[in-house]
Amino acid sequence: MEFDLRNVLNFASAYLEGKSLSPRLDAEILLSFVLSKDKIWIYSNFDFKLDEKCAKKYQEVLNKRYKEMPIAYIIGKKEFMGLDFKITDKVLVPRPETEELVEKLICDSRKYGWKKFLDFGSGSGVISISLAKFLPNAEVWVVDESKDALDLTVENAKKFGVEEKIHIAQTETERFDVVVSNPPYLTKAEWNSSADLHFEPYEALVGGEDGNDFYRMILATYRPKRFYFEIAHPFRESLKEIFDNFGKYEIIKDLSGRDRIAILW
Ligand SMILES: C[S@@+](CC[C@H](N)C(=O)[O-])C[C@H]1O[C@@H](n2cnc3c(N)ncnc32)[C@H](O)[C@@H]1O
Repeated sequence: MEFDLRNVLNFASAYLEGKSLSPRLDAEILLSFVLSKDKIWIYSNFDFKLDEKCAKKYQEVLNKRYKEMPIAYIIGKKEFMGLDFKITDKVLVPRPETEELVEKLICDSRKYGWKKFLDFGSGSGVISISLAKFLPNAEVWVVDESKDALDLTVENAKKFGVEEKIHIAQTETERFDVVVSNPPYLTKAEWNSSADLHFEPYEALVGGEDGNDFYRMILATYRPKRFYFEIAHPFRESLKEIFDNFGKYEIIKDLSGRDRIAILW
């Protein structure tokens, strides 16, 4: 049996109801993935009939989303700073809050002329590659304990033509203008109670018992002019103690009014 796109989308969004905060949008993104057409094409071809092969494929991807697999893992990509990054299930799915960290850092780097960056925990490379792409004189060193993540950073850097500006960091003694990191910062207890995060690598999310292991380690290891961190909301008392002992800092809220960025010097 063949169904037109209008009916298929109505069925799919009803199917995902309760499994996603945006069932209709998810249904459209997945349909556009299966058909290899953009959403405008879908809107202008509601009477188009889905053939059996595509219907089967659509059912498969809908089932993955029904089990709450992140869309980025299903379609293998995620937009960040207007760029379409390749994403695999070996790395964290980049979050919009991290874009706010990158925007702030790009803006401050233009103001102060910073050029040399270290991105600790590069994952898919969204932070390092955005810096390389939007700051013409930037050189970015990356660190990640996951080889899959480093390989993906290099692959994405090539995709966006900035591979010559991205370097795998070999030593900790290099002097950077800025060390930036969106480190694993959940506590073990937070991870245990967040089943929706269990598709993503544990190592990308959990920062030890109290969630602060990576802040302690990065602050003790590097000596840049500034540190730019993503942090959890609300700003933890235990993290405040670490920052108080380190020196001066500023906490900036994200667009939803949640504590999100820490700048230290
Ligand atoms: C929260 S993810 C951030 C990924 C990416 N920067 C982003 O914002 O989407 C943290 C990253 O830290 C890496 N990581 C975990 N433990 C590490 C360690 N001991 N040394 C270096 N990187 C580590 C993980 O593999 C993961 O890619």
